[in-house]
Amino acid sequence: MTKPSDQSDMNSATGATTPAEHGKRVADMFGRIAGWYDFLNHALSGCQDIYWRYRLAKAARPKPGETVLDLAAGTMDVSVELMRQYPTCKVAALDFALPMLETGKAKKLKDGREDVIFPVQADGRALPLPKECMGAATIAFGIRNILPREDAYNEFFRVLKPGARLCILEFGTGSKRVWKGLYNFYLDKLLPFIGDRISGDPGAYRYLAETIKTFPDERALAQELVDAGFERVYHVPMMSGIVYLHVGEKPKRKAQAAAPKKAAPKKAAAEKAVAKKAPAKKKATPKKAAVKAEKKAPAKKKPVKKAVKSPKIAQKK
Ligand SMILES: C[S@@+](CC[C@H](N)C(=O)[O-])C[C@H]1O[C@@H](n2cnc3c(N)ncnc32)[C@H](O)[C@@H]1O
Repeated sequence: MTKPSDQSDMNSATGATTPAEHGKRVADMFGRIAGWYDFLNHALSGCQDIYWRYRLAKAARPKPGETVLDLAAGTMDVSVELMRQYPTCKVAALDFALPMLETGKAKKLKDGREDVIFPVQADGRALPLPKECMGAATIAFGIRNILPREDAYNEFFRVLKPGARLCILEFGTGSKRVWKGLYNFYLDKLLPFIGDRISGDPGAYRYLAETIKTFPDERALAQELVDAGFERVYHVPMMSGIVYLHVGEKPKRKAQAAAPKKAAPKKAAAEKAVAKKAPAKKKATPKKAAVKAEKKAPAKKKPVKKAVKSPKIAQKK
């Protein structure tokens, strides 16, 4: 499912030719603007980013006590919001750029937050986590930066528990006209200008505009999630589709549908006991009873099967 890491169809706004080089350039760039990052986020979005992150965290729905992965955590605004909404949960805040995590740690990991939010420098394409350890995963404005995205989806899928959600916050494609072209003008001209002036990094906000413009639209992104094995995939536009919240769920285990199998030996044992008394009913051997149960099982599984649209999902299982 994962393409080789030197795939040639890579479209990098950094001008890099390999995912490894792209990753390094992106990490370096975010490292350079880390000090200004929060201020510019709020200023350039008119503080709407706070609401977007609130919606992202709300969609995650981990169970009490579970750990949530916040990938591309940056300065950890999403991690803090997750902790606020789910006070019994822990957050693994992973990011490639150490200066982003350090800036966030110095500003935000106080008053007990340092005991529940754990910043770790890591690449989203190869997570240093065991499989099925996370009760939910979030990524805000990060998936756009990771190439190939498939690698990150596969890693999310691997580390999420069955039934857990992946929630993505990302800009919609900038190739559509929004607000009669006003947003597109903002994206093309104003954003790079203001960003360059304030952050002092010529290129970082041009990179932002460029990656938004070349980003797939919401339907294409949803399809990518389905192809990666997620089900119940949906997306919600915010601010006229400038930003989207995408949600997908890792399918629940097959074991649920196979539950009747466990009941089968009991049934078989009971039938055997009856059979001792009445030899005519000997037909119901444990083996046959189990086969019967298996035959019945697919009928209960129908809704899950319907959700499986892509052969790749079946491969994941
Ligand atoms: C636009 S910032 C988003 C930060 C934060 N999630 C927020 O909502 O403000 C994108 C982040 O993605 C991180 N990033 C880019 N590529 C990455 C990768 N391959 N693995 C992990 N983090 C990555 C960058 O270092 C940067 O901190």
